[in-house]
Amino acid sequence: MPGIVLVGAQWGDEGKGKVTDLLAERADAVVRFQGGNNAGHTIVRGRQTYKLHLIPSGILHKDTLCVIGNGVVIDPRVLTDELDELRRRRVDTRLLRISANAHLIMPYHMMLDHAGEAKLGKLQIGTTRRGIGPCYADKAARLGIRVQDLLDEKILKKKIVAALEPKRLSLRPFAKDPRLDLQTITEEYLTYGHRLASYIADTVRLVHERLDAGETVVFEGAQGALLDIDHGTYPFVTSSNPVAGAACVGAGVGPKDIDEVWGVIKAYSTRVGAGPFPTELDGELADEIRERGGEYGTTTGRPRRVGWLDLVALRYAARINSLTALAVMKLDVLSGLDRLCVCTRYRSTGPDGAEFEHFPYHQTVLHHATGEYVQLEGWSEDLTECREESELPAAARDYLRFMAEFVGVPVALIGVGPGRDQVIWSGRTGANWLAAAAA
Ligand code: GDP
Ligand code: IMO
Ligand code: MG
Repeated sequence: MPGIVLVGAQWGDEGKGKVTDLLAERADAVVRFQGGNNAGHTIVRGRQTYKLHLIPSGILHKDTLCVIGNGVVIDPRVLTDELDELRRRRVDTRLLRISANAHLIMPYHMMLDHAGEAKLGKLQIGTTRRGIGPCYADKAARLGIRVQDLLDEKILKKKIVAALEPKRLSLRPFAKDPRLDLQTITEEYLTYGHRLASYIADTVRLVHERLDAGETVVFEGAQGALLDIDHGTYPFVTSSNPVAGAACVGAGVGPKDIDEVWGVIKAYSTRVGAGPFPTELDGELADEIRERGGEYGTTTGRPRRVGWLDLVALRYAARINSLTALAVMKLDVLSGLDRLCVCTRYRSTGPDGAEFEHFPYHQTVLHHATGEYVQLEGWSEDLTECREESELPAAARDYLRFMAEFVGVPVALIGVGPGRDQVIWSGRTGANWLAAAAA
């Protein structure tokens, strides 16, 4: 199984960092293929917690090649800070490689992100304000500045001049802001170029060399399917494609290089930022799950919105990603709830009360959809010490079985705590990985 894509199958923050770190144990390379430092991927190892935004979650394995692919947008200040922090913690970063074709987040992208949200007022998307949208917009407009441009002062300056002009117009109140000064930006970015030069590479070739040698490559997604710019809850989405197909474009491989696609999910749902969320909870129950699950953003610290497991959305995510397995994280968080609701269809809150079995394609319909639920029995036992499926309470096993059967995708991995050992490998796919990791 040389090429495995790992994607978020909900609204992000499913636990991708933890699962990537686990799979990286037997992988030869980990490649991030989209998004930027809007992502926050957490790895907990013993008493150490690592929060990664740009560097692939395989970095704690010193022999694993870690690639920031061409599809990622890179804020070089964040990247150099992240490298410094890892080095301070004695993490070996020598096998990090950065695609020369990846686009750079510039100071004006962040300013535009802030200004855009301010202008939208009540209608704002609730972006992470990291400049992600404006950077991808410049990439599409062919005004982007790429990592390779950092290595040539003349070209860098020329490209900044071309990109800066339209920004000065749209950021008129800031036209004299020193952050928009050509010389200042050029100097700052050249400094990043010097710092990052040894990591910049032809990453497409590097990844293909690994695949050609039959080695295992994990493609690590950021965000989640419902935040996809094409398939998510537009316009309340991010500006890239977090679905599995984007691994090909964002890393430079073909569909035939992908053998498996794992969807990482939480045993319930969360969402940060604005936008429709049909199974959203409020009140005490939401607060309880938020506190128990530590549902506060890794990147922005914002409290995450919390809801029941949404199988309508998950079945949709399974389809658009061609999921071959599910990694169900945070099952432990649900202990102690008498009854668990799982959403199996939507109902419109409008006068017609229409029912939907499939994820609605029309924004208006989705904004007026609420979940219709099947109630399943809860369990009171603490799951955090369980390491075999047979140790789980029967109700927890039934919960997993219900979701796997509904979605038609088997469960390969179950998370029962934040620690890297707090997992249960499940089914044939899980057993294969466990055996391979032990070998
Ligand atoms: P990512 O963006 O998908 O990598 O997820 P985040 O790191 O933003 O958020 C997931 C959070 O859940 C992190 O704080 C993880 O340490 C934590 N976590 C991951 N798996 C589990 C699990 O099985 N149980 C519990 N209780 N926490 C988990
Ligand atoms: P990881 O990889 C959860 C959300 C933002 C906002 C929308 C657009 O940790 O799962 P953007 O800054 O991308 O333009 O914001 O997308 N968002 C995330 N939500 N997890 C993430 O990443 C996210 N990255 C962006 O909250 O609603
Ligand atoms: Mg996250």
